[in-house]
Amino acid sequence: MAHVSATVYTSHVPAIGAALDHGRAAEPYWAAVFAGYEASRAWLREDPPDAIVLVFNDHATAFGPDLVPTFAIGTGESYAPADEGWGARPVPVVQGHPELAAHIAQSVIQDDFDLTLVNRMDVDHGLTVPLSLLFGQPPAHDFRWPCPVIPLAVNVVQYPVPSGRRCLALGRAIRKAIESYGEDLNVQVWGTGGMSHQLQGPRAGLINPVFDHAFMDMLTTVPEAAAAIPHVDYVREAGSEGIELVMWLVARGAMPERADGRAPTCVHRFYHVPASNTALGHLVLTP
Ligand code: DHB
Ligand code: FE
Repeated sequence: MAHVSATVYTSHVPAIGAALDHGRAAEPYWAAVFAGYEASRAWLREDPPDAIVLVFNDHATAFGPDLVPTFAIGTGESYAPADEGWGARPVPVVQGHPELAAHIAQSVIQDDFDLTLVNRMDVDHGLTVPLSLLFGQPPAHDFRWPCPVIPLAVNVVQYPVPSGRRCLALGRAIRKAIESYGEDLNVQVWGTGGMSHQLQGPRAGLINPVFDHAFMDMLTTVPEAAAAIPHVDYVREAGSEGIELVMWLVARGAMPERADGRAPTCVHRFYHVPASNTALGHLVLTP
């Protein structure tokens, strides 16, 4: 049977992708960001997953005002990096895992989560920047990501967006689905976005480290408390785009419960301000 071996959480700031793609990763401003991921990258090389369910949001790239699915699962063979206005990022095409994705869709939809099925979409920085942060740039002679990735898109762009409670419950349903998949796969679930940031209006540039640290603490040890945070509190405390943090709750819900009831092990934790207009957060949790 497949199992969830770890969950990984990270911001997905587009400027991080631009820094990598334009050879600026060694500049002091960006080096401080990438240094925070080195331990996680070494950890990933030691125990590489067979597949990743990557919870992200599309930023009006594949979806838009015409079509806004609340939750959408990628059941396709592959997903090209999107052109977000400056050309597609020079990163590999993301290979999907149609069999596992179809199984998750079947299981989760029978558990009353109405996922939209997506067989074709381009994936934006919400998905490709986390892959770059944690895997680096694959070498030219073997230009592919290390494993298949199942995109799981959550609407956090157009209200009404799903509650944290719903996101945590969806993660639990995804774990149940993975654990009932017949093949023995090591699966990781990643949650992306956040942390506090506001890109617009009079409060543009808002960053709230007190909220962000409290969120990481709660997410790790009392996820139900994090899931109970109402949308308006995200907006007040974490800015208009801080709502992206509900995607971390999907990944947290996918963590296997420990037999002794204790919180998962926090293998890595990193927090850094600023990264472009945001507070950047990163966690790795294992059961
Ligand atoms: C920015 C965009 C994002 O989607 C995000 O999550 C953080 C920052 C930005 O444009 O700076
Ligand atoms: Fe975003």
